[in-house]
Amino acid sequence: MKLSLLVLTALASTAAAGPIARGYGAGHESTAPAHAGKNATTPAHGSKNSAHKLPANEITQYSHIAALSAGVASNGTRIARVLAHGDLGLGTWPHIAGEMVVLDGVAYRATADGKVSTPPGNTQTPFAAVTRFVPERNATGTIANFSDFTTHLEGWYGGNLTHHFASYRLDGVWDLRIRAPGGQNHTLEPIAAVVARQTEFNHTRIAGTMVGFRTPKYAAEINAAGDHLHFISDDRSVAGHVLEFASVGAVKIQVAKVLRYSVEVPTFDEYEEATFA
Ligand SMILES: *[C@@H]1O[C@H](CO)[C@@H](O)[C@H](O)[C@H]1NC(C)=O
Ligand SMILES: *[C@@H]1O[C@H](CO)[C@@H](O)[C@H](O)[C@H]1NC(C)=O
Ligand SMILES: *[C@@H]1O[C@H](CO)[C@@H](O)[C@H](O)[C@H]1NC(C)=O
Ligand SMILES: *[C@@H]1O[C@H](CO)[C@@H](O)[C@H](O)[C@H]1NC(C)=O
Ligand SMILES: *[C@@H]1O[C@H](CO)[C@@H](O)[C@H](O)[C@H]1NC(C)=O
Ligand SMILES: *[C@@H]1O[C@H](CO)[C@@H](O)[C@H](O)[C@H]1NC(C)=O
Ligand SMILES: *[C@@H]1O[C@H](CO)[C@@H](O)[C@H](O)[C@H]1NC(C)=O
Repeated sequence: MKLSLLVLTALASTAAAGPIARGYGAGHESTAPAHAGKNATTPAHGSKNSAHKLPANEITQYSHIAALSAGVASNGTRIARVLAHGDLGLGTWPHIAGEMVVLDGVAYRATADGKVSTPPGNTQTPFAAVTRFVPERNATGTIANFSDFTTHLEGWYGGNLTHHFASYRLDGVWDLRIRAPGGQNHTLEPIAAVVARQTEFNHTRIAGTMVGFRTPKYAAEINAAGDHLHFISDDRSVAGHVLEFASVGAVKIQVAKVLRYSVEVPTFDEYEEATFA
């Protein structure tokens, strides 16, 4: 197994800028400024040219799921910094108020009122994972439901993903059930309580893109184990965390195996004080 799990604690350290130790502190942001990092009124999106200097199909993540589950969400890192490390991914926003979808280098925020926005680059995110997605396999398939997707992913990938992280992008028309949480109502409110108040939405025959990651069970404290998908519609008006879905006819399924994973561990007070299950 070639997985290298890097835990980077020195956020601002340029010493971490080697070819392997590649965290948020690695200095990519200066060469790949998200536009909103310079101008807080502009939606956050990464720089295409600089993004292409990033290695393909590695995941860079801010914080980890154990911390998010414990409700560590009042601060984080700027979304502009996240977008300097990938063009596809998912996450959440401060106080778990909404879902994040990163598609083609743009970070979208889906809120519990059913709206979608593009927050400025200086907006904090308490949890996000991104990759520079370069599909290793392009397949076409029909998907009966979420578990059917999980069952057949290796087939569409054309290889064994049993012990592996993977990233994917699915484009097509869908029937789906998605959610967006309205946010914590007190500091360190656990995610389970927040999600218990989430708003759910059903959509039928909606055209759009699913993005997401497969996380092996051994990494369940780092990211959500199993398959985790967020959706955004082609017209960018509907988005959220995918609870259930089925394709309407055949959809395009692009997959990449991920062999390298970087995690930036938070250092703000709330993180230090939290208790993890
Ligand atoms: C920031 O972006 C807004 C909207 O695009 C623009 O009106 C403004 O001039 C920009 N400010 C700077 C300093 O670039
Ligand atoms: C969040 O963290 C940033 C960077 O460390 C800091 O500038 C900001 O004041 C913090 N915000 C809150 C609400 O703690
Ligand atoms: C998959 O399709 C994309 C375009 O959507 C293309 O850039 C890429 O080369 C294809 N990859 C493979 C492995 O066929
Ligand atoms: C998902 O789809 C598969 C294949 O059609 C089916 O066997 C299974 O019962 C479905 N599961 C759920 C939960 O609907
Ligand atoms: C992956 O490889 C292992 C070891 O050969 C095997 O047990 C497992 O069934 C394989 N999984 C798939 C989906 O092929
Ligand atoms: C949090 O929200 C729930 C549901 O709206 C409510 O029952 C609970 O009292 C709220 N807690 C606080 C501390 O506001
Ligand atoms: C969405 O569909 C599911 C399953 O059909 C149903 O249980 C749920 O009540 C629906 N939710 C909404 C918000 O319509």
